[in-house]
Amino acid sequence: MSQSSLVSEIVRLKKQRNAVILAHNYQIPEVQDIADFVGDSLGLSIEAATTDAKTILFCGVHFMAETAKILSPGKTVLLPDLDAGCPMADMITASDVQELRRQYPGHTFLCYVNTSAAVKAECDLCCTSANALSMVRDIASTGGRVVFVPDMHLAGYAADSTGCDIVAWQGFCPAHARITPEDILMQKERHPQAVVLAHPECSAEVRELADEVVSTEIMCLYAHNMSAGEFIVATEPGILHRLRAENPAKRFHPASEEALCPNMKLVTLEKIRFSLKEMLHPVTLDRETLFRAKKCIRRMLEYRS
Ligand code: 13P
Ligand code: SF4
Repeated sequence: MSQSSLVSEIVRLKKQRNAVILAHNYQIPEVQDIADFVGDSLGLSIEAATTDAKTILFCGVHFMAETAKILSPGKTVLLPDLDAGCPMADMITASDVQELRRQYPGHTFLCYVNTSAAVKAECDLCCTSANALSMVRDIASTGGRVVFVPDMHLAGYAADSTGCDIVAWQGFCPAHARITPEDILMQKERHPQAVVLAHPECSAEVRELADEVVSTEIMCLYAHNMSAGEFIVATEPGILHRLRAENPAKRFHPASEEALCPNMKLVTLEKIRFSLKEMLHPVTLDRETLFRAKKCIRRMLEYRS
């Protein structure tokens, strides 16, 4: 099927299924272009919680579709490719959190949205990279001590920025781990006028070389609002499609072409068509996990940044 027939078929099926297509900023260009909404984990969660559509087709990875299901349990949430997982989310299990709870009684357990529903069910609060700092600050302001799972780099960034002591699980994003300080220094040498935007999943050494450390959505906002005409972008290069489309007069350079997340690239137009046609693959969660995970993520949507 040609790309244009695929697109027409998806539009037809979307109407038939009363579906909305949500896509993360790292998705391939043709998927971003067909989506009703493209954004970061927080923006996608807000869309999933507020949409009137009956079906949410999620172009992202497993924990994102699960989060949509937790926020909108009455809707059908489809993930076009079941293999689209997040290696960072897989670095911690519910029993790891139970063990940590025994080691750190009285601490507030804050999990990154990049976790399974089972892990969320064991934690107190959930954040995204867009609101982690505000949530850590709020916990600390009432005397709380934080255990953060699973991303050690986001935990380190939150600790450095807020001055709070954080017990961090040693998980990380393999895609962001491929961005090295040498990559940034090389790109800075090539593009001395460029502003460096880095994601908090990058290492501390990379973050130190950045002008701004922000979530993917805030990167888009900064790129649009800043007067600078050139940017070095230290995150998964899929975001460059949106940055270039929204800012045709500005120039964007990936910090590293190596920082690809293969899981984010698994969703294709053909898989979206098939998913809508056959209603595959619906996310299912048992009632107890869903209820407990919902308690954990309830407040996440109240913190816009
Ligand atoms: P955000 O888009 O929320 O910044 O997250 C980045 C990411 O790695 C998602 O898996
Ligand atoms: Fe997970 Fe990293 Fe891929 Fe995001 S970019 S889905 S954190 S592996």
